[in-house]
Amino acid sequence: MKLTLQIWRQENTATSGHYETFEVDQLDSGMSILEMLDRLNEQLIHAGKESVQFESDCRESICGCCGLTVNGRPHGPQPHVTTCMQRLRMFTDGSTVRIEPLRSASFPVLRDLIVDRSPLDRIIAAGGHVAVPAGTAPDPEAMLIDHTHVERALDFAACIGCGACVAACPNGAAALFTGAKVTHLSMLPVPSVERKNRAEHMVATMEENFGPCSQYGECANVCPQEVPLTAIASLQKERLKSFFAARI
Ligand code: SF4
Ligand code: FES
Repeated sequence: MKLTLQIWRQENTATSGHYETFEVDQLDSGMSILEMLDRLNEQLIHAGKESVQFESDCRESICGCCGLTVNGRPHGPQPHVTTCMQRLRMFTDGSTVRIEPLRSASFPVLRDLIVDRSPLDRIIAAGGHVAVPAGTAPDPEAMLIDHTHVERALDFAACIGCGACVAACPNGAAALFTGAKVTHLSMLPVPSVERKNRAEHMVATMEENFGPCSQYGECANVCPQEVPLTAIASLQKERLKSFFAARI
């Protein structure tokens, strides 16, 4: 198949960007969007031109670093699928595809399709450490946890920090991400000493860097890990607990 690509090019954060148009031919519909960008870059390098900069690592929905905006949607047209797993069969042969970075005021463009998502790392850092007593491996029977409870905690722990939820939110909020990070820790019996302060510190850092949540729900619509919106309700609950615990 053949596609016309409109790709965002930007030298660095200080400069303004623009779209550049490329034609890519002889594509296989089973190729991913990233493989198509690899193909384009081969073409550009052979022609002695500057390749398009984008991020990728695992290419199997684990690392969260590949997020792009494809035809206006974070990650691409296929719901709940990371950019690296979006296949070209989603596009009509001969069509035009617009590819740009994840768009959010909190994610400045570093170059072309690469954005700085470190504000998400700052939220995690604000949560502090988790104190787990070192020593020999504990007897798995010593701390029984209900299987359903574990599965629910894993639903939240599945967040890969891709930032698509922020880019999809009209307010640029990071409530789904922060909720996922806070909730999976609060559901498991990791020492609760840090729990008292964790949500409050993480929410304060979130509010410094991101917009407010108005519960539009766009975040959950694009989340490749299908983190449920209940993460946001759970975040508010943990925050209130944290607030009162710190003042009693
Ligand atoms: S909550 Fe979903 S969309 Fe947001 S960072 Fe985590 S995995 Fe990505
Ligand atoms: S490259 Fe790792 S999630 Fe896409």
